[in-house]
Amino acid sequence: MDVGTRVFRQGVIRRFREWLPPIPEGAVTTIGEGDTPLIEAPALSERIGARLFLKFEGMNPTASFKDRGMTVAMSRAVAAGSRFAVCASTGNTAASAAAYAARAGIRCFVVVPAGKIALGKAVQVLAHGAEIVQIEGNFDAALRISQEIANDREDVTLVNSVNPDRIEGQKTGAFEVCEVLGAPPDAMALPVGNAGNITSYWKGFSEWREAGYTDTAPRMLGFQAEGASPLVAGHDFESPETVASAIRIGAPASREGALAAARESGGAIESVTDDEILAAQELLAREEGLFCEPASAAGLAGLLKLVGEGRGPGGTVVSVLTGHGLKDPDVILSRVELPEPVGATFEAVAGRMERRGP
Ligand code: F0G
Repeated sequence: MDVGTRVFRQGVIRRFREWLPPIPEGAVTTIGEGDTPLIEAPALSERIGARLFLKFEGMNPTASFKDRGMTVAMSRAVAAGSRFAVCASTGNTAASAAAYAARAGIRCFVVVPAGKIALGKAVQVLAHGAEIVQIEGNFDAALRISQEIANDREDVTLVNSVNPDRIEGQKTGAFEVCEVLGAPPDAMALPVGNAGNITSYWKGFSEWREAGYTDTAPRMLGFQAEGASPLVAGHDFESPETVASAIRIGAPASREGALAAARESGGAIESVTDDEILAAQELLAREEGLFCEPASAAGLAGLLKLVGEGRGPGGTVVSVLTGHGLKDPDVILSRVELPEPVGATFEAVAGRMERRGP
């Protein structure tokens, strides 16, 4: 094999350029996002009675799927001569915007609900040197304010998924799934918060079909957390609450896209409880070795719920693990404690092993 000829993780713009809005080469802002692994999950396949694959988006540069859309949004902001990027966020969009803005040499302001974003995400924003504004309000209020700020000034680009460039970038996840499996799966299961991602995946699968690579498309199964499930209830939630802080959203901006995805694909938007989400997160970690954040486990939680009710999808199923588990250490530490230290002796350590069993 020739050394240096194979390009790994060249970023979604260079890999899928003809599917994306125009971006001049000089404006391309990438840190190697995309090309995330699609990992077969044998133990969980058995539990759900289908062949399950996990699209591990935690392997992106800032450890969530947001990087796919952020590379496109930030590159287009550079091309347009923007000096500021602004976004509202439950944490991951903020971490991604902060990293890509740093790379682009653009100033970045992130507006977040005070005390409601996971520790790892806040740390990422600080590390990249973005300005973090905590508001005494939830994500929905943060998004309204961020939109106002972007409307007010010419040189500010809003990098939330209401910016269509974000949706364009995120749809590349669907292309990768089709490429790796050789065909679209029978069903996709994913968490729904602001509803940009399910909208993006459905756009990707629809374009793949329109391009003539296939004549099928997956059923889109979107899952909201019960305490933040406006698309299931049919009305906005004034005070959404869930342990899955990433999807703690009461008024999803892309609601129409999510509902269309479910309707057109023969899928559904349903809800899962916090207990179901945490149980699914634990199964992924303990049976498949995959550590995702709570929101990311909503897809599997939903599949398990459907199976329990005799409505499992069967066939080939892909669940998107949207963000890495390291983003939210507190959710694990609130359930499992680090044990007290023991003496540095063989007996003390072996004694611990005895107590734990094989
Ligand atoms: N999973 C994770 C880990 C997320 O961070 C988000 C959204 C979702 C799922 C839901 O995706 O909003 O496109 O339906 N996080 C946004 C943020 C809202 O600000 O980071 P969605």
